[in-house]
Amino acid sequence: MGIKKVWYRVADAADIAPGAGLKVKVGTDDDCAVFRTVSGEFYAAGILCPHQNELLDRGRLEECEVICRRHHLRFDLRSGNCTNACGYSLRTFELREEFGEIFVARWEDE
Ligand code: FES
Repeated sequence: MGIKKVWYRVADAADIAPGAGLKVKVGTDDDCAVFRTVSGEFYAAGILCPHQNELLDRGRLEECEVICRRHHLRFDLRSGNCTNACGYSLRTFELREEFGEIFVARWEDE
């Protein structure tokens, strides 16, 4: 048995304001969010801060980073890496935008 990449349509691009995050469901995984940077790029990542599970869709976006509102850890949405503390990282997902729709990929068992 192998794994395969499955794309899910998760939102309309217009649903996410620049500088905001939106909770989405990727297949059966509902701990995900899509973020839109102030300059308009989209990223998909886990919605729960790996520090103490704060919801990151309520965090602040600065360039490609989301900043958790609770203790201010910062995560680079391109890599998931925490940029101001060691040992934390956020899951990230492949995302594509097509004709105003946002699709996010997840690896699943075949
Ligand atoms: S819960 Fe996010 S930084 Fe502590």
